[in-house]
Amino acid sequence: MPGQNKHYNLSLHNDAMRILILGIDGYIGWPLALHLLERGHEVSGVDSFYTRKRVREVGSDSAIPIMSMERRIESLKEMSGHKLSFIRGDVSNPRIIYDAIKEFKPDCTVHLAEQRSAPYSMIGLKQATETLQKNMIGTVNLAYAIKDMNPGCHILKLGTMGEYGTPNIDIPEGFFEVEYRGRKDTLPFPRNAGSWYHWSKVHDSNNLMFANNVWKIPVTDVMQGVVYGTSTEEIDRFSSPTRFDIDEVWGTALNRFCAQAVGDMPITPYGKGGQTRGFLSLTDSIQCLTIAAEKPPEKGEYRVFNQFDEYYSVNQLAETVKNSYEHLTGKPARIEHVENPRIEKEAHYYRPDMIKLRNLGYRPSRSLETEILKILSDLSKHKSRIDKLKNCIMPKTFWAKSSGI
Ligand SMILES: NC(=O)c1ccc[n+]([C@@H]2O[C@H](COP(=O)([O-])OP(=O)(O)OC[C@H]3O[C@@H](n4cnc5c(N)ncnc54)[C@H](O)[C@@H]3O)[C@@H](O)[C@H]2O)c1
Repeated sequence: MPGQNKHYNLSLHNDAMRILILGIDGYIGWPLALHLLERGHEVSGVDSFYTRKRVREVGSDSAIPIMSMERRIESLKEMSGHKLSFIRGDVSNPRIIYDAIKEFKPDCTVHLAEQRSAPYSMIGLKQATETLQKNMIGTVNLAYAIKDMNPGCHILKLGTMGEYGTPNIDIPEGFFEVEYRGRKDTLPFPRNAGSWYHWSKVHDSNNLMFANNVWKIPVTDVMQGVVYGTSTEEIDRFSSPTRFDIDEVWGTALNRFCAQAVGDMPITPYGKGGQTRGFLSLTDSIQCLTIAAEKPPEKGEYRVFNQFDEYYSVNQLAETVKNSYEHLTGKPARIEHVENPRIEKEAHYYRPDMIKLRNLGYRPSRSLETEILKILSDLSKHKSRIDKLKNCIMPKTFWAKSSGI
């Protein structure tokens, strides 16, 4: 049996599962597919290539070159013998999703196929409504397709820790017990998102909770932290990189900071840099999703996982990138705070729970420092691409200026 994962203690299932990945061409989707295949599962994928197109729309590109899907599948087959079936299509079209579910009959569908950039959703009215429509419709299509064509299939849906916002109290995993006017109940923890993108995820969560309530579809709704990293065991083994975005619209904070250091640019935290968020490496994101797929919810259960390794302030990340870059190259790096394009608290309390995945066997496998050194060294091989993308890195998408005209 191929590739036992050394990082966590799950033995391979005797019965391989059939796992459908919506959004298989993306940053997380591609390495997840490689990992699940290596664990002996049968994998099929759907993607519309929206991210490739939308990243080009803002004049940017993946800092690490990626193969076409056709080439990815061919090269994987040549190197490992793994077969991967793929459908090109938009999950907001019900025909695509009904056909995929009917033909493949998955045990688990991992739903990653959404517009995933907060800044993109804040460019203006067109991008805001496109994000809300496509994300919400795709998720509702999936719930209906499973109910009609393959009841019992587990929906493993990627939401975001950003759904909760930054409340001044601890954040539980999805639900909390409330006492109000002498009565008690367990209720969904309030969501307070900070962009149209994040609100689309809140609406998805509500819609999935409802679909579970009426049709008993088993659902895992993952509140995932920000993911960083260029590599996983399988990306390296099969020389099959995943995309890596570094521009102001598509690049997440730590990935952008690493690109700035490699491109001899200042590392630019937004505002005071006290914003604190949960983060996890790409390898650990894949580990968590694999555990969630292989250890599904009970029949009819809706469960919420908070998924991150550790929480850091943006300043802590900037300092760690600076120190790592200086250690690696002997050259100085500089931190320069810039005007915050977002509307958010820049210093606040932040203490989310992260217990359920650990109880299922998840153990963080890569330290922040080790991973940053790996990102810096992978990116330095593509310095000339980063130099060409320099104009796309500084913030231009300001929440306050988002407009319909
Ligand atoms: N990367 C992170 O830090 C992070 C953090 C929290 C949550 N998430 C969530 O995880 C999921 C995957 O994120 P990612 O970083 O891999 O993003 P990504 O944009 O790289 O991948 C998403 C993939 O889905 C495809 N897609 C988008 N809309 C589609 C549609 N309507 N029909 C078919 N395909 C579609 C895109 O082409 C892309 O290949 C997203 O839902 C995102 O919101 C990501």
